[in-house]
Amino acid sequence: MTFHAFTNFGWADADHGLWRFPEIVPPRTGSELDFWIELARTAERGRFDSLFLADAVGMGGFTDDDLRAEIHDGRMLLWDPATLIPVLAHETEHLGFVFTNSILQDHPFTFARRASTLDHLSDGRVGWNIVTSYSPNAARNFGLDELPPREERYRWAQEYVDAAYALWEGSWEEAALVRDVATGAFIDPDRVHTVDYSSPRYRIQGPHLTAPTRQRTPLLLQAGGSPAGRDFAARNAEVQFLASGTDEKIAADIAAVRDLAVRSGRRPDDIRFVISTGFVVGSTDEEARRKADELEAKADREGAVAYMSQEIGIDLHALDPDTPVEELRGMVSTGGMSGVLEAMIERMPKSANPTVRDLMSNGITRDATVGSPERLADQIERWLELGVDGLAVGIAIRPGSLTDFVDHVIPILQERGIAQREYAPGSFRQKMMGYGDRLPDRHPGARYRRG
Ligand SMILES: Cc1cc2nc3c(=O)[nH]c(=O)nc-3n(C[C@H](O)[C@H](O)[C@H](O)COP(=O)(O)O)c2cc1C
Repeated sequence: MTFHAFTNFGWADADHGLWRFPEIVPPRTGSELDFWIELARTAERGRFDSLFLADAVGMGGFTDDDLRAEIHDGRMLLWDPATLIPVLAHETEHLGFVFTNSILQDHPFTFARRASTLDHLSDGRVGWNIVTSYSPNAARNFGLDELPPREERYRWAQEYVDAAYALWEGSWEEAALVRDVATGAFIDPDRVHTVDYSSPRYRIQGPHLTAPTRQRTPLLLQAGGSPAGRDFAARNAEVQFLASGTDEKIAADIAAVRDLAVRSGRRPDDIRFVISTGFVVGSTDEEARRKADELEAKADREGAVAYMSQEIGIDLHALDPDTPVEELRGMVSTGGMSGVLEAMIERMPKSANPTVRDLMSNGITRDATVGSPERLADQIERWLELGVDGLAVGIAIRPGSLTDFVDHVIPILQERGIAQREYAPGSFRQKMMGYGDRLPDRHPGARYRRG
Protein backbone atom coordinates (compact mmCIF):
# COMPACT_ATOMS: atom_id res chain seq x y z
CA MET A 1 0.00 0.00 0.00
CA THR A 2 1.12 3.58 -0.57
CA PHE A 3 0.96 6.32 2.10
CA HIS A 4 0.57 10.05 1.59
CA ALA A 5 0.75 12.72 4.28
CA PHE A 6 -2.23 14.98 3.51
CA THR A 7 -2.21 18.63 4.55
CA ASN A 8 -2.54 22.23 3.38
CA PHE A 9 0.29 24.75 3.31
CA GLY A 10 -1.46 26.89 5.90
CA TRP A 11 -1.43 27.14 9.65
CA ALA A 12 -4.95 26.23 10.64
CA ASP A 13 -5.73 23.56 8.03
CA ALA A 14 -9.15 22.05 7.42
CA ASP A 15 -9.50 20.87 11.03
CA HIS A 16 -11.18 23.89 12.39
CA GLY A 17 -9.85 25.28 15.62
CA LEU A 18 -7.06 22.76 16.12
CA TRP A 19 -4.43 25.43 15.73
CA ARG A 20 -5.07 26.06 19.42
CA PHE A 21 -2.99 22.99 20.25
CA PRO A 22 0.30 24.57 21.30
CA GLU A 23 2.44 22.57 18.88
CA ILE A 24 0.56 23.32 15.68
CA VAL A 25 1.34 26.83 14.45
CA PRO A 26 4.85 26.85 13.01
CA PRO A 27 5.78 30.49 13.66
CA ARG A 28 5.40 30.02 17.40
CA THR A 29 8.79 28.39 17.59
CA GLY A 30 11.73 28.42 15.20
CA SER A 31 11.59 29.03 11.49
CA GLU A 32 8.62 28.14 9.37
CA LEU A 33 10.73 26.40 6.74
CA ASP A 34 12.36 24.24 9.42
CA PHE A 35 8.90 23.15 10.50
CA TRP A 36 7.91 21.97 7.01
CA ILE A 37 11.29 20.37 6.40
CA GLU A 38 10.88 18.40 9.62
CA LEU A 39 7.38 17.32 8.59
CA ALA A 40 8.67 16.09 5.21
CA ARG A 41 11.55 14.26 6.90
CA THR A 42 9.13 12.59 9.28
CA ALA A 43 7.07 11.39 6.31
CA GLU A 44 10.23 10.07 4.69
CA ARG A 45 11.31 8.37 7.91
CA GLY A 46 7.96 6.54 7.78
CA ARG A 47 8.68 5.61 4.12
CA PHE A 48 5.63 7.57 3.00
CA ASP A 49 5.27 7.89 -0.75
CA SER A 50 4.38 11.56 -0.76
CA LEU A 51 3.52 14.75 1.00
CA PHE A 52 0.17 15.73 -0.52
CA LEU A 53 -0.47 19.46 -0.46
CA ALA A 54 -4.17 20.19 -0.88
CA ASP A 55 -5.13 23.73 -1.80
CA ALA A 56 -7.97 26.06 -2.68
CA VAL A 57 -8.07 29.33 -4.59
CA GLY A 58 -11.23 30.62 -2.94
CA MET A 59 -13.05 30.42 0.34
CA GLY A 60 -16.45 30.82 1.89
CA GLY A 61 -19.56 28.69 1.83
CA PHE A 62 -22.74 30.45 0.82
CA THR A 63 -23.05 33.46 3.09
CA ASP A 64 -20.95 36.24 4.56
CA ASP A 65 -21.26 34.45 7.90
CA ASP A 66 -19.67 31.34 6.38
CA LEU A 67 -16.80 33.41 5.05
CA ARG A 68 -16.37 35.13 8.42
CA ALA A 69 -16.32 31.71 10.11
CA GLU A 70 -13.53 30.51 7.81
CA ILE A 71 -11.55 33.69 8.38
CA HIS A 72 -12.14 33.40 12.13
CA ASP A 73 -10.96 29.80 12.43
CA GLY A 74 -7.94 30.46 10.22
CA ARG A 75 -8.65 27.99 7.45
CA MET A 76 -8.65 30.74 4.87
CA LEU A 77 -4.93 31.37 5.32
CA LEU A 78 -3.23 29.37 2.58
CA TRP A 79 0.27 29.87 1.19
CA ASP A 80 1.05 28.70 -2.32
CA PRO A 81 1.94 24.99 -2.03
CA ALA A 82 4.09 24.69 -5.18
CA THR A 83 6.63 27.15 -3.80
CA LEU A 84 7.44 24.85 -0.87
CA ILE A 85 8.46 21.89 -3.02
CA PRO A 86 12.03 22.81 -4.10
CA VAL A 87 13.09 23.35 -0.49
CA LEU A 88 11.53 20.10 0.72
CA ALA A 89 12.91 18.18 -2.26
CA HIS A 90 16.38 19.41 -1.37
CA GLU A 91 15.99 18.20 2.21
CA THR A 92 14.66 14.73 1.36
CA GLU A 93 15.76 11.99 -1.01
CA HIS A 94 12.81 9.83 -2.00
CA LEU A 95 9.58 11.50 -0.91
CA GLY A 96 7.15 12.52 -3.66
CA PHE A 97 5.31 15.86 -3.59
CA VAL A 98 1.76 16.28 -4.79
CA PHE A 99 0.63 19.83 -5.31
CA THR A 100 -2.85 21.02 -6.11
CA ASN A 101 -3.43 23.42 -8.97
CA SER A 102 -6.84 24.42 -10.25
CA ILE A 103 -7.59 24.92 -13.93
CA LEU A 104 -9.07 28.27 -12.87
CA GLN A 105 -5.89 29.73 -11.53
CA ASP A 106 -3.28 29.69 -14.29
CA HIS A 107 -3.03 29.60 -18.04
CA PRO A 108 -1.85 26.08 -19.02
CA PHE A 109 1.33 27.47 -20.61
CA THR A 110 2.40 29.07 -17.32
CA PHE A 111 1.29 26.05 -15.32
CA ALA A 112 3.06 23.47 -17.52
CA ARG A 113 6.28 25.46 -17.26
CA ARG A 114 6.04 25.66 -13.45
CA ALA A 115 5.27 21.93 -13.16
CA SER A 116 8.26 21.10 -15.38
CA THR A 117 10.49 23.31 -13.26
CA LEU A 118 9.34 21.51 -10.10
CA ASP A 119 9.89 18.11 -11.70
CA HIS A 120 13.34 19.29 -12.83
CA LEU A 121 14.37 20.59 -9.41
CA SER A 122 13.08 17.49 -7.61
CA ASP A 123 14.41 15.09 -10.27
CA GLY A 124 11.04 13.53 -11.02
CA ARG A 125 9.30 13.60 -7.67
CA VAL A 126 6.20 15.69 -8.33
CA GLY A 127 2.56 14.90 -8.90
CA TRP A 128 -0.27 17.23 -9.91
CA ASN A 129 -3.62 17.06 -8.18
CA ILE A 130 -5.82 18.25 -11.06
CA VAL A 131 -8.75 20.19 -9.63
CA THR A 132 -11.55 22.20 -11.19
CA SER A 133 -12.34 23.98 -7.88
CA TYR A 134 -15.57 23.60 -5.96
CA SER A 135 -16.31 27.03 -4.52
CA PRO A 136 -18.11 29.91 -6.27
CA ASN A 137 -15.68 32.31 -4.58
CA ALA A 138 -12.79 30.61 -6.42
CA ALA A 139 -14.55 31.28 -9.73
CA ARG A 140 -15.13 34.91 -8.75
CA ASN A 141 -11.44 35.33 -7.97
CA PHE A 142 -10.71 34.66 -11.64
CA GLY A 143 -13.25 36.86 -13.35
CA LEU A 144 -16.23 34.50 -13.57
CA ASP A 145 -19.64 35.33 -12.12
CA GLU A 146 -20.30 31.77 -11.00
CA LEU A 147 -18.64 28.39 -10.92
CA PRO A 148 -19.45 26.74 -14.27
CA PRO A 149 -21.46 23.49 -14.07
CA ARG A 150 -19.48 20.29 -13.50
CA GLU A 151 -19.77 18.95 -17.05
CA GLU A 152 -18.43 22.21 -18.42
CA ARG A 153 -15.62 22.32 -15.83
CA TYR A 154 -14.46 18.82 -16.76
CA ARG A 155 -14.61 19.66 -20.51
CA TRP A 156 -12.46 22.66 -19.64
CA ALA A 157 -10.14 20.42 -17.62
CA GLN A 158 -9.72 18.12 -20.63
CA GLU A 159 -8.69 21.08 -22.80
CA TYR A 160 -6.35 22.17 -20.04
CA VAL A 161 -4.60 18.82 -19.61
CA ASP A 162 -4.39 18.33 -23.38
CA ALA A 163 -2.61 21.68 -23.67
CA ALA A 164 -0.22 20.66 -20.90
CA TYR A 165 0.39 17.19 -22.47
CA ALA A 166 1.21 18.87 -25.79
CA LEU A 167 3.86 21.01 -24.06
CA TRP A 168 5.30 18.28 -21.82
CA GLU A 169 5.25 15.41 -24.29
CA GLY A 170 5.25 16.97 -27.75
CA SER A 171 7.58 19.95 -27.79
CA TRP A 172 11.07 18.70 -27.08
CA GLU A 173 12.61 15.53 -28.47
CA GLU A 174 14.56 13.44 -26.03
CA ALA A 175 18.06 14.37 -27.20
CA ALA A 176 17.42 18.03 -27.94
CA LEU A 177 19.68 19.39 -25.22
CA VAL A 178 23.03 18.78 -26.95
CA ARG A 179 25.39 21.31 -25.30
CA ASP A 180 27.84 20.75 -28.14
CA VAL A 181 30.93 22.82 -27.42
CA ALA A 182 32.37 22.18 -30.90
CA THR A 183 29.38 23.56 -32.82
CA GLY A 184 28.23 25.97 -30.15
CA ALA A 185 24.72 24.44 -30.21
CA PHE A 186 23.29 24.42 -26.73
CA ILE A 187 19.95 23.05 -27.93
CA ASP A 188 19.39 21.43 -31.35
CA PRO A 189 16.83 23.63 -33.17
CA ASP A 190 15.68 20.62 -35.24
CA ARG A 191 14.59 18.80 -32.10
CA VAL A 192 12.48 21.46 -30.44
CA HIS A 193 9.03 22.10 -31.90
CA THR A 194 6.11 24.43 -31.63
CA VAL A 195 2.97 22.67 -30.43
CA ASP A 196 0.29 24.84 -32.09
CA TYR A 197 -2.32 23.67 -29.63
CA SER A 198 -5.79 24.97 -30.26
CA SER A 199 -9.03 24.37 -28.35
CA PRO A 200 -12.09 26.54 -27.68
CA ARG A 201 -10.36 28.15 -24.68
CA TYR A 202 -6.67 28.06 -25.48
CA ARG A 203 -4.30 28.71 -28.33
CA ILE A 204 -0.67 27.95 -27.59
CA GLN A 205 2.08 28.13 -30.13
CA GLY A 206 5.03 26.87 -28.07
CA PRO A 207 7.70 25.60 -27.89
CA HIS A 208 7.63 24.64 -24.22
CA LEU A 209 10.34 26.72 -22.54
CA THR A 210 11.78 23.95 -20.37
CA ALA A 211 13.66 20.80 -21.34
CA PRO A 212 12.22 17.30 -20.77
CA THR A 213 12.37 16.35 -17.10
CA ARG A 214 12.64 12.89 -15.62
CA GLN A 215 8.89 12.31 -15.76
CA ARG A 216 8.05 14.90 -18.46
CA THR A 217 4.40 14.83 -17.36
CA PRO A 218 4.15 14.89 -13.55
CA LEU A 219 2.26 11.99 -11.97
CA LEU A 220 -1.44 12.78 -12.53
CA LEU A 221 -3.87 12.67 -9.60
CA GLN A 222 -7.53 13.59 -9.48
CA ALA A 223 -10.42 13.42 -7.00
CA GLY A 224 -13.68 14.00 -8.86
CA GLY A 225 -16.62 11.88 -7.74
CA SER A 226 -19.44 13.03 -10.07
CA PRO A 227 -20.11 11.10 -13.30
CA ALA A 228 -18.20 13.78 -15.24
CA GLY A 229 -15.40 13.74 -12.65
CA ARG A 230 -15.04 9.97 -12.78
CA ASP A 231 -15.04 9.99 -16.53
CA PHE A 232 -12.24 12.53 -16.51
CA ALA A 233 -10.29 10.53 -13.91
CA ALA A 234 -10.76 7.29 -15.83
CA ARG A 235 -9.25 8.86 -18.94
CA ASN A 236 -6.46 10.92 -17.40
CA ALA A 237 -5.63 10.15 -13.78
CA GLU A 238 -3.00 7.69 -12.66
CA VAL A 239 -4.15 8.00 -9.06
CA GLN A 240 -7.69 8.74 -7.99
CA PHE A 241 -8.41 10.08 -4.53
CA LEU A 242 -11.62 8.89 -2.91
CA ALA A 243 -13.40 10.24 0.14
CA SER A 244 -13.61 7.46 2.74
CA GLY A 245 -17.13 6.03 2.65
CA THR A 246 -18.53 2.65 3.57
CA ASP A 247 -16.71 -0.49 2.41
CA GLU A 248 -19.44 -1.15 -0.17
CA LYS A 249 -19.15 2.34 -1.60
CA ILE A 250 -15.35 2.23 -1.77
CA ALA A 251 -15.40 -1.13 -3.55
CA ALA A 252 -18.14 0.04 -5.95
CA ASP A 253 -16.29 3.30 -6.75
CA ILE A 254 -13.06 1.47 -7.49
CA ALA A 255 -14.81 -1.06 -9.74
CA ALA A 256 -16.74 1.65 -11.61
CA VAL A 257 -13.74 3.91 -12.32
CA ARG A 258 -11.48 1.00 -13.21
CA ASP A 259 -14.10 -0.26 -15.64
CA LEU A 260 -14.34 3.19 -17.26
CA ALA A 261 -10.53 3.36 -17.50
CA VAL A 262 -10.38 0.00 -19.28
CA ARG A 263 -13.12 1.11 -21.66
CA SER A 264 -11.01 4.14 -22.54
CA GLY A 265 -8.12 1.89 -23.59
CA ARG A 266 -6.14 1.77 -20.36
CA ARG A 267 -5.17 -1.26 -18.27
CA PRO A 268 -6.86 -1.99 -14.93
CA ASP A 269 -3.66 -1.19 -13.01
CA ASP A 270 -3.09 2.09 -14.88
CA ILE A 271 -5.21 3.77 -12.22
CA ARG A 272 -4.63 3.42 -8.47
CA PHE A 273 -7.04 4.35 -5.70
CA VAL A 274 -6.10 6.25 -2.59
CA ILE A 275 -8.58 6.96 0.21
CA SER A 276 -8.44 10.21 2.07
CA THR A 277 -8.95 9.64 5.78
CA GLY A 278 -7.88 10.63 9.27
CA PHE A 279 -6.54 8.67 12.22
CA VAL A 280 -6.36 9.31 15.92
CA VAL A 281 -3.77 6.99 17.47
CA GLY A 282 -3.44 6.16 21.17
CA SER A 283 -1.48 3.48 22.97
CA THR A 284 -4.87 1.94 23.80
CA ASP A 285 -8.34 2.41 22.32
CA GLU A 286 -9.33 4.37 25.44
CA GLU A 287 -6.42 6.75 25.15
CA ALA A 288 -7.21 7.33 21.46
CA ARG A 289 -10.85 8.06 22.35
CA ARG A 290 -9.69 10.59 24.96
CA LYS A 291 -7.47 12.26 22.34
CA ALA A 292 -10.37 12.41 19.89
CA ASP A 293 -12.56 14.00 22.58
CA GLU A 294 -9.83 16.57 23.20
CA LEU A 295 -9.76 17.41 19.47
CA GLU A 296 -13.53 17.79 19.44
CA ALA A 297 -13.41 20.09 22.48
CA LYS A 298 -11.03 22.44 20.67
CA ALA A 299 -12.87 22.32 17.34
CA ASP A 300 -14.52 25.46 15.99
CA ARG A 301 -18.10 24.38 15.21
CA GLU A 302 -19.07 27.35 13.06
CA GLY A 303 -15.98 27.03 10.91
CA ALA A 304 -16.54 23.29 10.56
CA VAL A 305 -20.15 23.72 9.40
CA ALA A 306 -19.21 26.54 6.99
CA TYR A 307 -16.61 24.26 5.46
CA MET A 308 -19.01 21.32 5.37
CA SER A 309 -21.50 23.46 3.37
CA GLN A 310 -18.73 24.27 0.94
CA GLU A 311 -17.52 20.68 0.73
CA ILE A 312 -20.95 19.35 -0.21
CA GLY A 313 -22.13 22.39 -2.19
CA ILE A 314 -25.27 22.88 -0.08
CA ASP A 315 -26.03 25.75 2.30
CA LEU A 316 -26.70 23.76 5.48
CA HIS A 317 -27.79 26.82 7.49
CA ALA A 318 -30.58 27.51 4.98
CA LEU A 319 -32.18 24.09 5.51
CA ASP A 320 -34.78 22.96 8.00
CA PRO A 321 -32.62 21.00 10.49
CA ASP A 322 -35.17 18.16 10.41
CA THR A 323 -34.55 17.54 6.68
CA PRO A 324 -33.51 13.89 6.20
CA VAL A 325 -29.90 13.68 4.99
CA GLU A 326 -31.01 11.42 2.12
CA GLU A 327 -32.73 14.46 0.59
CA LEU A 328 -29.39 16.26 0.23
CA ARG A 329 -28.65 14.16 -2.85
CA GLY A 330 -31.32 16.06 -4.74
CA MET A 331 -30.02 19.50 -3.71
CA VAL A 332 -26.51 19.47 -5.11
CA SER A 333 -25.38 22.75 -6.66
CA THR A 334 -22.57 23.34 -9.14
CA GLY A 335 -20.14 23.57 -6.22
CA GLY A 336 -19.03 21.01 -3.67
CA MET A 337 -17.41 17.59 -3.94
CA SER A 338 -19.71 14.80 -5.05
CA GLY A 339 -17.68 12.02 -3.42
CA VAL A 340 -17.62 13.79 -0.06
CA LEU A 341 -21.40 14.30 -0.01
CA GLU A 342 -22.02 10.65 -0.87
CA ALA A 343 -19.53 9.47 1.75
CA MET A 344 -21.12 11.71 4.41
CA ILE A 345 -24.60 10.37 3.68
CA GLU A 346 -23.41 6.77 3.52
CA ARG A 347 -21.65 6.99 6.85
CA MET A 348 -24.66 8.28 8.81
CA PRO A 349 -26.34 5.48 10.80
CA LYS A 350 -29.32 4.40 8.69
CA SER A 351 -31.40 3.10 11.58
CA ALA A 352 -31.73 6.52 13.21
CA ASN A 353 -33.21 8.29 10.16
CA PRO A 354 -30.45 10.92 10.29
CA THR A 355 -31.28 14.55 9.67
CA VAL A 356 -29.35 17.67 8.69
CA ARG A 357 -29.15 18.48 12.42
CA ASP A 358 -27.30 15.18 13.01
CA LEU A 359 -24.97 15.87 10.12
CA MET A 360 -24.16 19.35 11.41
CA SER A 361 -23.45 18.07 14.89
CA ASN A 362 -21.01 15.48 13.55
CA GLY A 363 -17.60 16.15 14.99
CA ILE A 364 -14.43 16.90 13.10
CA THR A 365 -13.17 13.38 13.84
CA ARG A 366 -16.25 11.90 12.20
CA ASP A 367 -14.24 10.40 9.34
CA ALA A 368 -11.28 9.36 11.44
CA THR A 369 -10.41 5.86 12.56
CA VAL A 370 -9.80 6.17 16.31
CA GLY A 371 -7.92 3.50 18.27
CA SER A 372 -4.78 1.65 19.20
CA PRO A 373 -2.10 1.06 16.53
CA GLU A 374 -3.32 -2.55 16.12
CA ARG A 375 -6.92 -1.44 15.57
CA LEU A 376 -5.79 1.06 12.94
CA ALA A 377 -3.60 -1.56 11.24
CA ASP A 378 -6.59 -3.97 11.14
CA GLN A 379 -8.76 -1.30 9.50
CA ILE A 380 -6.03 -0.53 6.95
CA GLU A 381 -5.70 -4.24 6.18
CA ARG A 382 -9.47 -4.39 5.51
CA TRP A 383 -9.14 -1.49 3.04
CA LEU A 384 -6.30 -3.31 1.32
CA GLU A 385 -8.54 -6.37 0.94
CA LEU A 386 -11.21 -4.14 -0.64
CA GLY A 387 -8.75 -3.17 -3.39
CA VAL A 388 -7.59 0.16 -1.98
CA ASP A 389 -4.04 0.96 -3.15
CA GLY A 390 -3.15 3.75 -0.76
CA LEU A 391 -4.11 6.11 2.03
CA ALA A 392 -3.95 9.89 2.26
CA VAL A 393 -3.38 10.25 5.97
CA GLY A 394 -4.91 13.51 7.21
CA ILE A 395 -2.64 15.33 9.65
CA ALA A 396 -4.99 17.02 12.11
CA ILE A 397 -2.25 18.04 14.51
CA ARG A 398 1.00 18.88 12.84
CA PRO A 399 3.38 17.23 13.36
CA GLY A 400 1.90 15.04 16.14
CA SER A 401 -0.67 13.15 14.06
CA LEU A 402 1.98 12.22 11.49
CA THR A 403 4.61 11.33 14.09
CA ASP A 404 2.12 9.09 15.93
CA PHE A 405 1.27 7.28 12.69
CA VAL A 406 4.90 6.91 11.63
CA ASP A 407 6.15 5.74 15.02
CA HIS A 408 3.30 3.46 16.05
CA VAL A 409 1.23 2.33 13.04
CA ILE A 410 3.80 2.07 10.24
CA PRO A 411 6.00 -0.49 12.11
CA ILE A 412 2.99 -2.82 12.51
CA LEU A 413 2.09 -2.37 8.85
CA GLN A 414 5.70 -3.09 7.87
CA GLU A 415 5.63 -6.20 10.03
CA ARG A 416 2.49 -7.34 8.17
CA GLY A 417 4.05 -6.59 4.78
CA ILE A 418 1.54 -3.79 4.06
CA ALA A 419 3.91 -0.79 4.24
CA GLN A 420 7.32 -0.60 2.57
CA ARG A 421 10.48 -0.77 4.67
CA GLU A 422 12.65 0.82 1.99
CA TYR A 423 11.96 2.98 -1.02
CA ALA A 424 12.03 1.46 -4.48
CA PRO A 425 14.32 3.29 -6.92
CA GLY A 426 12.97 5.61 -9.60
CA SER A 427 10.78 8.63 -10.11
CA PHE A 428 7.53 9.24 -8.25
CA ARG A 429 5.66 7.67 -11.20
CA GLN A 430 7.85 4.57 -11.22
CA LYS A 431 7.49 4.16 -7.45
CA MET A 432 3.71 4.57 -7.56
CA MET A 433 2.82 2.88 -10.84
CA GLY A 434 5.78 0.61 -11.64
CA TYR A 435 5.58 1.33 -15.37
CA GLY A 436 8.56 3.64 -15.72
CA ASP A 437 9.30 7.32 -15.33
CA ARG A 438 7.10 8.37 -18.24
CA LEU A 439 3.44 8.05 -19.14
CA PRO A 440 2.75 4.70 -20.83
CA ASP A 441 1.99 4.76 -24.57
CA ARG A 442 -1.67 3.94 -23.92
CA HIS A 443 -2.23 7.12 -21.87
CA PRO A 444 -3.92 9.94 -23.81
CA GLY A 445 -0.97 12.26 -23.05
CA ALA A 446 1.27 9.99 -25.14
CA ARG A 447 -0.69 10.96 -28.29
CA TYR A 448 1.23 14.23 -28.33
CA ARG A 449 4.63 12.56 -28.64
CA ARG A 450 6.63 12.88 -31.84
CA GLY A 451 7.97 9.94 -33.80
C1 LIG B 1 -10.15 13.38 -1.22
C2 LIG B 1 -10.42 14.63 -1.98
C3 LIG B 1 -9.43 15.64 -2.01
C4 LIG B 1 -9.64 16.82 -2.72
N1 LIG B 1 -8.70 17.81 -2.69
C5 LIG B 1 -8.97 19.01 -3.30
C6 LIG B 1 -8.08 20.12 -3.20
O1 LIG B 1 -7.05 20.06 -2.56
N2 LIG B 1 -8.43 21.28 -3.82
C7 LIG B 1 -9.59 21.42 -4.55
O2 LIG B 1 -9.84 22.48 -5.11
N3 LIG B 1 -10.44 20.37 -4.67
C8 LIG B 1 -10.17 19.20 -4.06
N4 LIG B 1 -11.07 18.17 -4.17
C9 LIG B 1 -12.25 18.38 -5.01
C10 LIG B 1 -12.21 17.65 -6.35
O3 LIG B 1 -11.00 17.84 -7.03
C11 LIG B 1 -13.34 18.10 -7.26
O4 LIG B 1 -13.11 19.40 -7.74
C12 LIG B 1 -14.66 18.16 -6.57
O5 LIG B 1 -14.84 16.94 -5.91
C13 LIG B 1 -15.80 18.44 -7.56
O6 LIG B 1 -15.90 17.47 -8.56
P1 LIG B 1 -16.90 16.24 -8.44
O7 LIG B 1 -18.26 16.82 -8.31
O8 LIG B 1 -16.69 15.48 -9.70
O9 LIG B 1 -16.52 15.45 -7.24
C14 LIG B 1 -10.86 16.99 -3.45
C15 LIG B 1 -11.84 15.98 -3.41
C16 LIG B 1 -11.65 14.81 -2.68
C17 LIG B 1 -12.72 13.77 -2.67
